[in-house]
Amino acid sequence: MSTPDNIFPVFDQLLQRKDKEELLQQKAKVVWMTGLSGSGKTTIAKVVERKLHDNGFVTQLLDGDNIRAGIGNNLTFAADDRKENIRRISEVSKLFLNCGIVCINSFVSPTNEIRQQILDIIGKENVLMVYINTPLEECEKRDVKGLYAKARKGEIPNFTGISAPFDVPNDPYLDVPTVGKSVEESADIILETLLPLITFEGEK
Ligand code: ADX
Repeated sequence: MSTPDNIFPVFDQLLQRKDKEELLQQKAKVVWMTGLSGSGKTTIAKVVERKLHDNGFVTQLLDGDNIRAGIGNNLTFAADDRKENIRRISEVSKLFLNCGIVCINSFVSPTNEIRQQILDIIGKENVLMVYINTPLEECEKRDVKGLYAKARKGEIPNFTGISAPFDVPNDPYLDVPTVGKSVEESADIILETLLPLITFEGEK
């Protein structure tokens, strides 16, 4: 006897984002940190992620290291490749979002055009755009990876802030000036805004 096609009609329906959010007891969000190289994006993102995790939230951190080593490994820092880099990351973030996860992204995302592309792909209502506001002089002074020194010597083409543009974000959800603040303080400013947005009916 053959099985009728419609015997399990419920399995025909794709599970929705809200089903995943209910399971995880959290609301999904993409927290997108934009800022210069060396501004502290990933350092702050790691603290934000740790604190969310400790409070029972399921998260995913994406940054230049894990993305450019994998799905972006054929891309340079030329303007068109940066756009493609950000497009791929935006699409990946949307998958995490639809899985109910809080996705924390740390990418230079240097121009207002690129930031608009992020909002268009993921949906403005799903993104908390955070400007990690550290002036170029400060990033260059810290020069954690030694990249500014190399860029000044002309050894790195298209280096953001030196030989490639960085627009001050024209409409960030949050502007976090970092000078004079600890990493913990900057992370807490972000969490204060973020927590009410991802809390599931006051559960966590
Ligand atoms: S983005 O512009 O496409 O958003 P992304 O965040 O992935 O950039 O990568 C930036 C990181 O790559 C920097 O923090 C730095 O460590 C490294 N890097 C290497 N070359 C460059 C460059 N030309 N401009 C900016 N960052 C660079």
